[in-house]
Amino acid sequence: MRSLLIYLALATFAQADDAASFDPVALERMVRQDCGACHGLTLKGGLGPDIRAGSLKDWTAEDLQAIILDGRPGTPMPPWRPLISEVEAAWIAQYLLEHE
Ligand code: HEC
Repeated sequence: MRSLLIYLALATFAQADDAASFDPVALERMVRQDCGACHGLTLKGGLGPDIRAGSLKDWTAEDLQAIILDGRPGTPMPPWRPLISEVEAAWIAQYLLEHE
């Protein structure tokens, strides 16, 4: 939870300068730590389902981007739109599709 708060602070900071702030290293860390808090540190599932590539075969990158940005209303999957840009969500979607 602490890392999420730190990320929140950084994201607020970063959004002032969108393109220049795009940082794959920070995004990967966010996926492992913040998404991992619910989906498991290796993303193989926890409170949330397995989100490794093999489990996401039926999804397109666009579907995943939409889930990441808007969450799943009525479930613990939160919307990340307040924290990340559409480009960053697209990057995360692609990252998930490429990582086992
Ligand atoms: C607070 C817990 C929580 C956090 C944090 C979280 N998720 Fe989720 N996520 C869930 C839950 C629970 C579901 C299942 C929702 C449902 O029942 O449809 C889910 C569903 C998903 C799905 C759909 C998977 C499928 O097969 O239905 C994707 C993709 C996903 N999350 C990606 C992410 C990403 C990427 C992050 C980080 C940016 C993230 N989640 C952070 C709880 C979380």
